[in-house]
Amino acid sequence: MSLERTLTVRVERISRQTPEILAFELAHPWGRPLPAYEAGAHIDVHMPGGFSRQYSLARAPSGNASYVIGVKREVGSRGGSASMHERVREGDLLPISAPRNTFPLREEAKHHLLLAGGIGMTPLLAMAQALAARGADFTLCVFARSEEHLAFADALRAPALAPHLRLHLDQGDASQRIDLRALLAERAPNTHLYVCGPGGFMQAVRDAAAHWPEDALHTEYFAAPTDANTTTGLPFTLKLARRGITVPVAADQTAVDALHEVGIDIPVSCQQGLCGTCVVEGDGEGAEHRDFCLTGSERKTRVALCCSRAKGQELVLQL
Ligand code: FES
Repeated sequence: MSLERTLTVRVERISRQTPEILAFELAHPWGRPLPAYEAGAHIDVHMPGGFSRQYSLARAPSGNASYVIGVKREVGSRGGSASMHERVREGDLLPISAPRNTFPLREEAKHHLLLAGGIGMTPLLAMAQALAARGADFTLCVFARSEEHLAFADALRAPALAPHLRLHLDQGDASQRIDLRALLAERAPNTHLYVCGPGGFMQAVRDAAAHWPEDALHTEYFAAPTDANTTTGLPFTLKLARRGITVPVAADQTAVDALHEVGIDIPVSCQQGLCGTCVVEGDGEGAEHRDFCLTGSERKTRVALCCSRAKGQELVLQL
């Protein structure tokens, strides 16, 4: 369970975006400002039924009077999106986490290419608005089935974004799909690519951008890929440099669980390597990274303890 501090927000407004997507505007119950955030950030929402899910903030920061999230009702979901759609009403109070950002804009980029598949548009919409506000050079490509399935259409077509928007509606017809390999064949100098969307879309973009430098490709996953192994592996030892102790991790145990057994609680949320809550400083070069939230350079000095393991027999952490 998460040890992070939660805050309570009121559901100010619920608006239908598409047949499957609702937008929720969340505000402080007494009208106070909410914690500041950067474009690309997400929050954990603790919803009726005991579910907790991460949702990206779908609007660039502006005064922090409210947050906006988009929730797609997933077919066969584990209950989180159904709970939001069926049980949450305007005026309800919801516990949430403070925003966290594992998908930030890169200051060093000269051009930003944002690729959004379906509901994956939410963090990229906020990023596009933030880039437009600072006059940055960017392109936002949004992929959706049809106009009916296009969420946040008004925000996308706002005058500040319209000149940067490339909208691809395939009408559910594979022959209409954009050729990602052609789109990503050339990389203009200092272009950074940001991707968010369903698993198949993410994989297609990763394949098409395989020749891009790893540090120029930034992804935000909603769920771990179905073939991901985030728990088991070989046993190893955690060496806690600050405490001067070692902690054994069994083959069927995560590092978080092993640390909990010796009284060291690491905050967790998604427990799938997605959200970054459990990331600590350590010898990333000695880790077998299984997360989906750290960049190549971050992995040199950080490790997500809910899923990653040691490459060899020992992993050194700054704990
Ligand atoms: S708890 Fe989310 S990345 Fe580990």
